[in-house]
Amino acid sequence: MKRAKCIVDKDYTIDVVDPKLYGSFIEHLGRAVYSGIYEPNHPNADEQGFRKDVLACVKELAVPIVRYPGGNFVSGYRWTDGIGPVTERPVRLDYAWMSIESNKIGIDEFVDWCKKADTQVMAAVNLGTGTPQDAGYMVEYCNHPTGTFWSDLRGQNGHKDPHNIKTWCLGNEMDGPWQTCGLSADDYGKKAREAAKIMKWVDSSIELVASGSSSPLMSTYPDWDRIVLEHTYEYADYISMHRYYENEGNIEDFLTSFADMDDFIETVAATADFVKAKKRSKKTMKISFDEWNVWYIKKQTEHPWAESPAILEDQYSLLDALVFGGMLCTLLNHVNRVKIACLAQLVNVIAPIVTKAGGGILKQATYYPFQQVSMYGRGTALKTLLRAPSMVVTRGEVPSMQTAATYDEKDKKVTLFILNCNDEPVEFSLDLRSFGKTVMEEHIVMDGADLFAKNTFEQPDLVKPRNILPIASQADVYVMNLSKLSWNVVRFSAI
Ligand code: AHR
Repeated sequence: MKRAKCIVDKDYTIDVVDPKLYGSFIEHLGRAVYSGIYEPNHPNADEQGFRKDVLACVKELAVPIVRYPGGNFVSGYRWTDGIGPVTERPVRLDYAWMSIESNKIGIDEFVDWCKKADTQVMAAVNLGTGTPQDAGYMVEYCNHPTGTFWSDLRGQNGHKDPHNIKTWCLGNEMDGPWQTCGLSADDYGKKAREAAKIMKWVDSSIELVASGSSSPLMSTYPDWDRIVLEHTYEYADYISMHRYYENEGNIEDFLTSFADMDDFIETVAATADFVKAKKRSKKTMKISFDEWNVWYIKKQTEHPWAESPAILEDQYSLLDALVFGGMLCTLLNHVNRVKIACLAQLVNVIAPIVTKAGGGILKQATYYPFQQVSMYGRGTALKTLLRAPSMVVTRGEVPSMQTAATYDEKDKKVTLFILNCNDEPVEFSLDLRSFGKTVMEEHIVMDGADLFAKNTFEQPDLVKPRNILPIASQADVYVMNLSKLSWNVVRFSAI
């Protein structure tokens, strides 16, 4: 049997986990908004047309921040189309997804939805077709108390109190040729800097996210990030990162996607630190990993000029959930730099939650690792000193396991997250030497005979976590048998 060893010591800390690590994303795309969060004719809709079953699931996932309204959508979006009386709002063509946008939901309604979902808005401004002044007006509309054209208009639209949106993205994936009015790094950097100046003049309490490379596969990466930060370093608080993985035929490559994500974060952090040194700045640029997920982008279909078409509705398998767990570990292992992360996306569109128009709701396989890490991955992230067999995949030699740990000092709980990418069981010994007396409270596993099993409306519970008997020993070292190709959450109480 293969063996692995791991030491978790409460003195080997990474940083406190910012709850915003468990953010997500709702874009005006497909059925994310319309027949996703909003379906006025649904039997479960509230007085504003929001689906209460979706709200309940979002609360269960404990998502603290939701990016909105895009994504690619934002680069052609006039935010003013989405305010005021709904019957007077224009119906537009959305160039990003070639869809019809009714504008029935705009920023005011989304803020209302976020309050009901116990979350905050992370707003994105349009730096494609939009101007720095439009961006400033949107901040004024949302955050200025009263007495100006835009703030008074918000009052007339039923929102006297400012929305107080604290986190703003300076456009989206502006390096992408697919982006409406994409720009070169220099042109975007200058435009973002001017927008940032106005936005922070309007409200100095906001934080701004500069648009980093949309993927490490872009030919402009990582120069894009360097050039953009050279223009925006004084005004930006975060540089964004986006990354999606899909199974391209080699399961081991796919399972170990976490290793690629590790490198990506480390390169962007190093690039930001290069600019910091060049500028003799005292500020360390934070990272907002505001799009991450498994996405079968090559299987995407098109439905030109339909209203809220069912596009990007990937169904996730056990295998996808394993990869997803590995990515969550990577985020936790970088909480000293990654202060925001957004699972892209939340409902229907490459999402853990799927709705049937007029019908029920489905929790996909990826729902569970997200919920577990969002619930238990709080407190302080600890370094896991892991000695595991390695694997040779297309990108080189990588560990065959990924781990992350958190310690919640308040509740005296230690949680270890483990992905086993080996196609065989592994004897895993965990040394909790610094915690004194501990009790293993639960061991939750996701595994199964069929890696490609998926939850469906007909069989909604095919891929679900199960509890296995915790080890009764109270020694420092716990020896567990991890099943092959499995995602594990192991919880301990420090007495
Ligand atoms: O999340 C789907 C799309 O992926 C977003 O609109 C875009 O930013 C990214 O390419």
